[in-house]
Amino acid sequence: MESNPTATAFHSGALRGAITAPGDKSISHRAIICGALAEGETVIDGLLESADVLATIAAMEHFGARINKADHDHWSVVGVGSGGLRQPTAPLDFGNSGTGVRLIMGVMASAPLRVTFSGDSSLRARPMGRILKPLRLMGAEVSGTHDAGQDDHLPLTVTGASRPQAITYRLPVPSAQVKSALLFAGLNIEGETCVIEPEATRDHTERMFKAFGVDLVQDTTPEGHRRVRLQGRAPLTSCALRIPGDPSSAAFMTVAALIVPGSEITITNVLVNPSRIGLYLSLREMGAKITFTNQREVSGEPVADLHVQASVLKGVSVPAERAPSMIDEYPILAIAAAYAEGATVLSGLAELRVKESNRLSAIAAGLQACGVRVEEGTDSLTVHGRGGEGPASVAIPGGAQILSHHDHRLAMSFLVMGLAAKDPITVDGADMIATSFPGFVDTMTALGANIQSEAEEVRS
Ligand code: S3P
Repeated sequence: MESNPTATAFHSGALRGAITAPGDKSISHRAIICGALAEGETVIDGLLESADVLATIAAMEHFGARINKADHDHWSVVGVGSGGLRQPTAPLDFGNSGTGVRLIMGVMASAPLRVTFSGDSSLRARPMGRILKPLRLMGAEVSGTHDAGQDDHLPLTVTGASRPQAITYRLPVPSAQVKSALLFAGLNIEGETCVIEPEATRDHTERMFKAFGVDLVQDTTPEGHRRVRLQGRAPLTSCALRIPGDPSSAAFMTVAALIVPGSEITITNVLVNPSRIGLYLSLREMGAKITFTNQREVSGEPVADLHVQASVLKGVSVPAERAPSMIDEYPILAIAAAYAEGATVLSGLAELRVKESNRLSAIAAGLQACGVRVEEGTDSLTVHGRGGEGPASVAIPGGAQILSHHDHRLAMSFLVMGLAAKDPITVDGADMIATSFPGFVDTMTALGANIQSEAEEVRS
């Protein structure tokens, strides 16, 4: 018997209140990894305690770091110091976490270690070749993969380079995970590791390296591409960090408040790093009433409080260039688009097919099941919004059972959709929400949403 709990979202009254977004997932992974590599104790406030981050904690403990929850909101990480990584004695299981597995492959690829990486069925289906290709250039060897040099799927074993080579690498796909893996590997390599990104991706690793005292140069190539240069071997110095709220999680509350008539909410302490806020720009272009107040800096990252009011939304075209700054937000943007008046055209979505599920197809199927017309292209999606068709409160029929494909962001997106649909929307795989936002149902309920979780037992 394998459990596949469902959750159902019912038509809800206006959402109201002030809440705090859970800690940013990307920054939480990096804080644990940097703390584990540093000399001394790093204290982290506001860490996201989700399944993905717990997998990264367990992995870094295997390398010799000592990681503990010090009190209610603080984690203590005592790092191994430069060159101090220990040989793990067991394979590392990353569950659903693409960020954890890819960043940590980078961490160990330039050290004399042999590590077996594994994960759940979703992670085993995701391409690792994009990471392993440059790590092989640095001298790492990969075994056990059934499609060596192509997509390289888990489980596989990486043997770190005995004499690691510093490389200059131009990212063929915009990926902060690839960039970060190379920077982590570069920490332990003599000479300059250089990563060039034709399309800028989230820069949390660069910002955090600076917080840990690493000398890093960020500039632009003559063609105008962002370039990061790191001089190895670079020790990390422990520090105190506060993790801001995750804009990718705040996105679900934001869209819920926009589409449920009469709503007005405040989400405090949200990361507003320009490399992460493409969704909010797009929603504003659609007519969303979202304001950023109390802008400030927290541990080297820009943070604000978000004020969101229910809004009449209009369809827009979201440019492909914006994709890296909102790559995880297309599922929830598609939900907002369904409630907008007119068509919303999303392009540059090829990467959505290799996320925790094939998100492009899954969003299209889910929207259709809820009564929304869509056109799915190879790397694009057009959503024909039903806003303006009768009263806002019943524009979307809903009444569907949605397959989340064990993808946390799909599950949360369709639950948000159900809050303003005529009939309830049920999603399966609701347990996967804990991957990134363990308190999702409670947080939404506190705002006034009607979401019921139930455990449904199915045969495996
Ligand atoms: C992440 C980068 C993105 C994003 C993922 C988190 C990171 O992946 O989708 O959820 O923390 O670096 P890619 O690097 O594959 O675009």
